Amino acid sequence: MEDKTVCIEFTINREKKALQIPSRMSALTVIRDILGLTGTKEGCGVGECGACTIEVDGQAINSCLMFGAQLDGCNVLTVEGLEKEGQLHRIQKAFLDNHAVQCGFCTPGILMSTHALFEENANPDDEEITKAIAGNICRCTGYQQIFASIKDACSTKTGNG
Ligand code: FES
Ligand code: FES
Repeated sequence: MEDKTVCIEFTINREKKALQIPSRMSALTVIRDILGLTGTKEGCGVGECGACTIEVDGQAINSCLMFGAQLDGCNVLTVEGLEKEGQLHRIQKAFLDNHAVQCGFCTPGILMSTHALFEENANPDDEEITKAIAGNICRCTGYQQIFASIKDACSTKTGNG
């Protein structure tokens, strides 16, 4: 069956975009293959790993499970949008300071889940942090440094954000 195209307009990383896309294309494919924002990763492609996490209207979303058409009218943030004017976001800085990145494949998704958490709750407790990143799988770090980074980012004022 032939896939129809749809026109969408949305804001991503503070820039407005207007695109014509196949109606069944995933948001992940729009972001990576059409917009070239390859910081967002594809792991499982079925909503299990969290590597593709983006923020849509302030909520952490698995972009592999969302149609690109659903981005219409939304305000989207990807990992590329965390940095502002050459300055890392405080969450990114905390990940560097705490050596929370090994292969780095999970990192963009975890950064976005953390950013969405902070949008709702600037001072989450341990349980709230655990819940916020429960959908993000890391095969390398054992999560200790990731957790320490998020705790650190709650209190630090360095970096943007
Ligand atoms: S690639 Fe989307 S959850 Fe794994
Ligand atoms: S750092 Fe390798 S998967 Fe998390």
